[in-house]
Amino acid sequence: PHGNTQDKRGRILRDLRISVTDRCNFRCTYCMPKEVFDQNYPYLSHKELLSFEEITRLTSIFSTLGIEKIRLTGGEPLLRKNLEVLIEMLAQVRTPDGKALDLTLTTNGSILRKKAAALKAAGLQRLTVSLDGLDDAIFKKMNDVEFPVADVLDGIAAAQEVGFKNIKVNMVVKKGTNDHEIVSMAKHFKGSGVILRFIEFMDVGSSNGWNMAEVLPSKEVIARINAVFPLEAIEANYSGEVAQRWRYVDGSGEVGVISSVTQTFCHECTRARISTDGQMYLCLFANEGFDFKTMLRSEKSDLEIANAIMNTWAARDDHYSEIRGSHTANQSTGSRKVEMSYIGG
Ligand code: GTP
Ligand code: 5AD
Ligand code: SF4
Ligand code: SF4
Repeated sequence: PHGNTQDKRGRILRDLRISVTDRCNFRCTYCMPKEVFDQNYPYLSHKELLSFEEITRLTSIFSTLGIEKIRLTGGEPLLRKNLEVLIEMLAQVRTPDGKALDLTLTTNGSILRKKAAALKAAGLQRLTVSLDGLDDAIFKKMNDVEFPVADVLDGIAAAQEVGFKNIKVNMVVKKGTNDHEIVSMAKHFKGSGVILRFIEFMDVGSSNGWNMAEVLPSKEVIARINAVFPLEAIEANYSGEVAQRWRYVDGSGEVGVISSVTQTFCHECTRARISTDGQMYLCLFANEGFDFKTMLRSEKSDLEIANAIMNTWAARDDHYSEIRGSHTANQSTGSRKVEMSYIGG
């Protein structure tokens, strides 16, 4: 098998996202709403999780297939015990032509102050922190656990102190909830070296109560910033980048918008996802995954697993964002989509 295998829509596999825990200490209303993710929620038990050895083996197999980037997600990945040990293991993986993988992580930043130095030392290359506003009342309304803005900002500062460059901040925009934070967030991070990106509220999972009326189109986000701090569009860093990039005309950095609802990017979707318990999902909006944990725990060789991955990829046809209506698939068809905290953003 090799990495040029195209799926049914001509897409190749380049980017692997691994959820290392389905748990989180936040209850963001758009991701893990409290009413659903309560004490009775059936989180995975420890033995159901892929071990660090299994994750590393799977990553090595993927790296023979053209994967260039690994993103660790969750849930909140820093809640996985000894995550830096996994990062150290993944930092050793090489592509067939001897290159290290682009190793990166998405975190809510809540315990980043404590972890930043260890993550850096372990070989993590990049970092994305989620933050939905600067106003404490609004941020607390979104995270729903009374978590203060200051601690996330302090986590970002800690990451900068230990030498992380090009840190990104993701802000999910919900119209009517935090959209009036857009310009103040832009102002705050302008000139800081941090790249702020605005994400359209998506209908991931089956429990976040999504509706189109709460989506603020990215075009509007850019218009609002541009009215205060002039922006111009710039080229993508690589083909298939999910964010569209804009630079401040005065040279003080850039912002990005991720417009999965109003400007879909399924046609260049190069991503595969591994859930916390080792299922491969090819689309963020999928109903079902492909079981690789059983394969990892059987006598199957790396080559057999590699073949299974490529056969799965070759059969891939999903393009959910292109066919979404103004209702989520769950509301209109009754089918259940998998939760994002389980497969990772
Ligand atoms: P870079 O390597 O920094 O370019 O990372 P990235 O653009 O992959 O960023 P990140 O992983 O932070 O993704 C940002 C957000 O974009 C995610 O949290 C999701 O909300 C959304 N996103 C990423 N990939 C997909 C995708 O394949 N489909 C959809 N619909 N949304 C996606
Ligand atoms: N819509 C858009 N983005 C989401 N994320 C989680 N749920 C949603 C959603 N419904 C993003 C968060 C975080 C990343 C893990 O996924 O902002 O940055
Ligand atoms: Fe946790 Fe991130 Fe989901 Fe918020 S978006 S509940 S921080 S996993
Ligand atoms: Fe890829 Fe599915 Fe997102 Fe489209 S909706 S970009 S196919 S993950």
